[in-house]
Amino acid sequence: MRAVVKLGGALFRREPNVTSLKGMGRALGGFVEDGNQLVLVAGGGENARTYIATARKLGGDESTCDLLGIQITRANAELVRLAIGSMASSKIPTTLSDLPHFVGSGKAVVMGGLQPGQSTNAVAALAAEITRAEILVNGTDVDGVYTEDPKKNPKAKLIRSVHVDKLLSWAMGGEVFAGRYELLDPLAIKIMQRARIPTRFVSLGDPGNIIAALQGKDIGTKVVYS
Ligand SMILES: Nc1ncnc2c1ncn2[C@@H]1O[C@H](COP(=O)(O)OP(=O)(O)OP(=O)(O)O)[C@@H](O)[C@H]1O
Ligand SMILES: [Mg+2]
Repeated sequence: MRAVVKLGGALFRREPNVTSLKGMGRALGGFVEDGNQLVLVAGGGENARTYIATARKLGGDESTCDLLGIQITRANAELVRLAIGSMASSKIPTTLSDLPHFVGSGKAVVMGGLQPGQSTNAVAALAAEITRAEILVNGTDVDGVYTEDPKKNPKAKLIRSVHVDKLLSWAMGGEVFAGRYELLDPLAIKIMQRARIPTRFVSLGDPGNIIAALQGKDIGTKVVYS
């Protein structure tokens, strides 16, 4: 199977947790050992947001802040690469056009962000499109897509299946400042829509959730296209 997994910033935290990273690395390395093609996209998390906020206070423009955030996502990707060990490719691709070449290695390919103005969710969708992924799993810090932001409204309900048009209408209401791309940014949704990438949003609190989603189990939120 060909798969892409977005590992949200929650995996990295302010002080990355070695046990969590090892657990995730072991699970994902096993998936590749089973003969599957896997691209991993690391998000920026709290550290990226801290650096971006500091750069902004120092007068940095949004593109500069975004570029700084991308550097942190690549540092996070390096941690994932180390956690996977021998089943991970030794280099992090920094352009989308390099990716098809990298996935030919039979190892997990780990990458971070690519361009200012887009989130790592958009990178994950582009990676899924160009590698013809059969599934995109978006691992984040909540159990899936809710009726509203569950951190702002604790009464928000988990949606088990959501139409891409609905996601897009929500995403269009968001902001596009560096480090502020949340779960649903318009570019990511647009790419998913045009490539009709089978996608699931799950919590990455347990690596088992990611593996279950990769195996096609009904977990988190599934995106539907018709
Ligand atoms: N409708 C919604 N359903 C679920 N989460 C939502 C929704 N709207 C907003 N969110 C927020 O999106 C957050 C997840 O996006 P966030 O950017 O914080 O994490 P990530 O994309 O996994 O990590 P990173 O951006 O660091 O890679 C959730 O914690 C939640 O607060
Ligand atoms: Mg995000």
